[in-house]
Amino acid sequence: MTGRIQDKVALVIGAGSIGEAPSNGSATALLFATEGATVMCVDISEPAAARTVAQIEAVGGTASTFRADVADTAQIDAAVAACMERYGRIDILHYNVGIEAFGELIDVTDESWDRVFDINLKGAMAAARAAVPHMIAQGGGSIINVSSIASLRWSPMQFLSYNVSKAALNRMTRVVARQYAPHKVRCNVILPGLIDSPHAAALVKTEAERIEAKKARDARCPMGHQGTPQDIAMAALFLASEESRYVTGLEMVVDGGITL
Ligand SMILES: NC(=O)c1ccc[n+]([C@@H]2O[C@H](COP(=O)([O-])OP(=O)(O)OC[C@H]3O[C@@H](n4cnc5c(N)ncnc54)[C@H](O)[C@@H]3O)[C@@H](O)[C@H]2O)c1
Repeated sequence: MTGRIQDKVALVIGAGSIGEAPSNGSATALLFATEGATVMCVDISEPAAARTVAQIEAVGGTASTFRADVADTAQIDAAVAACMERYGRIDILHYNVGIEAFGELIDVTDESWDRVFDINLKGAMAAARAAVPHMIAQGGGSIINVSSIASLRWSPMQFLSYNVSKAALNRMTRVVARQYAPHKVRCNVILPGLIDSPHAAALVKTEAERIEAKKARDARCPMGHQGTPQDIAMAALFLASEESRYVTGLEMVVDGGITL
């Protein structure tokens, strides 16, 4: 199964991993490249982006790095401009970056609220804002945002700003989808459930806590185990490809049935 997005250019924002194991972002960038896309790997960490590029090149794919902090919209504009300069088009925009800040209503600070919203929501807006004119000029494109099932329902983790920013991301996705449907620019959002990734492991501090947290997360899933970054990558590949050419504004839950 190769070539499902042959010759397309994909801009993956948050394409590294905060750990050694694959992340949602790095797995997606690698799968896009395996299926024929040229991938520009944007990340705040140049080494993290470079690791993904090395994995892509190891399987014969084409990719390059670009360092950007999505908290600064000028750096997002620069990433989109660099993609146009390097590859002349942008067919797929995959916005994967998302951060949490601990805190329920009483704990949340203005600073942490603003930082979470800047990265989870404003960054996604800025990336789409910069990419859409190029997509319109090309006759279409696919924007994929990465949200969370915590945008839909109660989560035992106290992440008020995260949950609300992801709910807003879902809504923005649907508005953008409707606005640009006449231009064949599609916009969809993936809502991962519990995914066994370095990002999830980083939510606790010690190795013992990690083992316990993994067991508890697996036990909460109806299939008896968490999803993997590859599960998110495969959903993204569908949304990136022509197989989903009539799909826009979709909130695609990838959670093994946990929200049912
Ligand atoms: N793992 C889960 O259980 C889970 C569940 C639901 C949703 N999600 C969502 O998945 C996405 C992230 O998953 P992941 O596994 O790829 O995580 P990750 O934390 O490994 O992030 C991927 C990359 O994003 C980069 N990054 C972080 N801050 C950045 C910034 N300011 N600018 C540019 N790059 C930055 C990191 O350096 C990293 O290389 C998030 O949107 C998250 O909300 C994850």
